[in-house]
Amino acid sequence: MQLSNRLNAIEASPTLALTATANKLKAEGKDVVGFGAGEPDFDTPDYIKDACIKALKDGRTKYTPVVGIEPLRKAVVDYIKRDYNLTYKPENVVISTGGKHVLYNIFMSILNKGDEVIIPAPYWVSYKDIVMLSEGSPVILQTTFESGFKITPSQLESGITSKTRAVIINSPSNPTGVVYSEEELKAFAAILEKHPDIWIITDDIYAKLIYDGRKFFNLAMLSEKLRERVIIADGLSKAFSMTGWRLGYAVTMNTGLVKALEKIQGQSTSNATSFAQYGAVAALNGDLAFIEKMNKAFIERRDYLFETLSKMQGIRVFKPAGAFYIFPDIAELSKTAKFKQLMEKYKETSVSKAFSAALLEEKMVAMVPGIAFGYDNGMRISYAMSLEEIKKGMVRMGEFVRALY
Ligand SMILES: Cc1ncc(COP(=O)(O)O)c(C=O)c1O
Repeated sequence: MQLSNRLNAIEASPTLALTATANKLKAEGKDVVGFGAGEPDFDTPDYIKDACIKALKDGRTKYTPVVGIEPLRKAVVDYIKRDYNLTYKPENVVISTGGKHVLYNIFMSILNKGDEVIIPAPYWVSYKDIVMLSEGSPVILQTTFESGFKITPSQLESGITSKTRAVIINSPSNPTGVVYSEEELKAFAAILEKHPDIWIITDDIYAKLIYDGRKFFNLAMLSEKLRERVIIADGLSKAFSMTGWRLGYAVTMNTGLVKALEKIQGQSTSNATSFAQYGAVAALNGDLAFIEKMNKAFIERRDYLFETLSKMQGIRVFKPAGAFYIFPDIAELSKTAKFKQLMEKYKETSVSKAFSAALLEEKMVAMVPGIAFGYDNGMRISYAMSLEEIKKGMVRMGEFVRALY
């Protein structure tokens, strides 16, 4: 039976696939250390769960408006005002079923066939595939370890063509943990202000997971001129440890876009789960003590990983300033004779895939290959797991790397 050609353009999510493999090995009784997961290892705080349970008991079990319940749209507005000093109205907000769904709705709403979307690499795995599902063309701006995995203003400018419809900025970044500074973003704003037909999507899902006293900025905060064209894509998955709840939101001043998002969502998922939305109200209106506690643990793990990876021969790494990923570069290591043998053994042309396959088979350590994020010389390590488990994984990785010399 026929399947749509649409599927040929995209790949299954490699991060979800690796997590599934690691979980399968665990279920078989293998002692796997899984660095693949893209979700905090903390439970959702009780005050959020309680609000959801109350909503269920109160009978909040029916359809809600497609764009979300009014208290949640208002909570998003208040949260963005309180934490980022940005003024929006509830009618600027659309609630969807997770951050990924928000991005899916956005690209489906703004792209026509062949429209270009600028995506800095390393990028979050799904950007490229969602753009392609929406019949757009991803334009990848490649960065390197040397450039600190950041695009430059001139790189951004040179990526813009008459077909460019959107650019996506993700800071803090998945997979690198890179955070753009206020000055760097202002330089991007100066360029984008000259191109009035380009949407700016700011994926702020890691905005709250930011370290070392750094401040979060997005382009809506930094340019009045761009405000009308900036679409904030965010969600509760990471900051509130609510990945399974599937709650995200788009915020835009553009009323035409709000209607478009509502139309697309109204013909696919309708509303996000009713009682989950009530939990989200409690999350956004609550204080951020939970996040501070979580960040403390993330910083401790990041520091340990940074120090440990820095000492490994053939590995280069820099200290991420946000999110819960570290992205070591294995370019030097991949030049050893033994690494070359590894490539042959696994019949791989991708160094990160060979590294990932061998590390899993030989040491039972799961890590997502950088090629999935558009950077083959990197490996993504998620540190959303206990320090004890991280240490175990690093001992094994250290042995693995040493054996390649
Ligand atoms: C950069 C980025 N954006 C968006 C998402 C989507 O998150 P969710 O759909 O779980 O809300 C993720 C999740 O991994 C992410 O890393």
